[in-house]
Amino acid sequence: SITPAVVTVTGAAGSIGYAALFRIAAGAMLGHDQPVRLRLLELPQAVSAAVGTAMELDDGAFEQLLSVDIFDDPRQAFDGTDFALLIGAQPRTKGMERADLLQANAAIFAEQGAVLNDVAADDIRVVVVGNPANTNAAIASAHAPEIPAERFTALTRLDHNRAIAQLSHHAGVPAREISRVSVWGNHSATQYPDIFHARVGERTGAELAEDRAWLIDDFIPTVAKRGTSIIETRGASSAASAASAAIDHVHDWFLGTPEGDWVSAALPSPGAYGVPEGLVCSFPVRAVNGHWEIVEGLEINDFSRARIDASVAELADERAAVGDLLPA
Ligand code: NAI
Repeated sequence: SITPAVVTVTGAAGSIGYAALFRIAAGAMLGHDQPVRLRLLELPQAVSAAVGTAMELDDGAFEQLLSVDIFDDPRQAFDGTDFALLIGAQPRTKGMERADLLQANAAIFAEQGAVLNDVAADDIRVVVVGNPANTNAAIASAHAPEIPAERFTALTRLDHNRAIAQLSHHAGVPAREISRVSVWGNHSATQYPDIFHARVGERTGAELAEDRAWLIDDFIPTVAKRGTSIIETRGASSAASAASAAIDHVHDWFLGTPEGDWVSAALPSPGAYGVPEGLVCSFPVRAVNGHWEIVEGLEINDFSRARIDASVAELADERAAVGDLLPA
């Protein structure tokens, strides 16, 4: 029999949590044969909502869902956890400066990193969804010295999937025939969706990129600002697509990326592609035996270099803004 996986979801009663939990319970994340124990972490005021969600999970009668437990204490919620989806975060409220938002979240993720270090399973894998995701992941990792840094990742798979969707519409090619898209940098408007290495059906991304007007004025900003257009159009932020991307991220990390393809995820830079060591930056990645590996040896042209550098500069600024919560 397969050892059950312990999955902790923070912000479990929020919009993304609500959309993610049912698919995790149904086997979309770890496979249909993998038994799962869910542990939900919420703020005290949202515990009741999480209990209600657990009642619904119960009513799903999911074959592989062994248990659902609800906590408002991170130390209990992360006890023995194998997979942590860190979705809960302090939202930006009216009049809040960006620096204040970074600080408020840095405090949350510093604590969660330290607790994970103490109580999580040895093979813990973490994906940070709560924004600012990259810097939150860097902070959590900095407070978890015993957990290998590459186990702390941030979600840029939604940006990756959005890039595939836009390419699919533009080229009239189904998503499944599109591979090797790369998102570089920060999960923010400075991110750089790179199609120069992509395969788009019978065509190449490089060929499509020759239409620079489309690339610069349409494709890149549409992908980078998609979150804002969803809010404007839907009247609420992207939740189901974010949940779906988080599930894709953990699925591929655990079960592997398809042969010949790669995906995008933010990992602590080992100094790859000129990205300063330790910045949690989105790269093209493959999962090999349960570990992310950055795709090596891609040629980066001047067009891409300038855009990667701009997003990396923003990551460096974010790190500087929370410097007091990082080890010297
Ligand atoms: P939401 O506001 O609906 O839910 C957030 C939940 O987190 C709330 O229930 C809240 O009580 C809980 N929470 C807050 N602080 C917590 C803490 N310290 N511990 C445990 N729970 C805590 O927000 P939604 O829509 O679910 O989004 C969650 C986060 O994901 C936001 O930061 C959002 O900006 C981010 N996001 C990231 C994306 C990505 O691609 N990386 C995409 C979309 C959203």
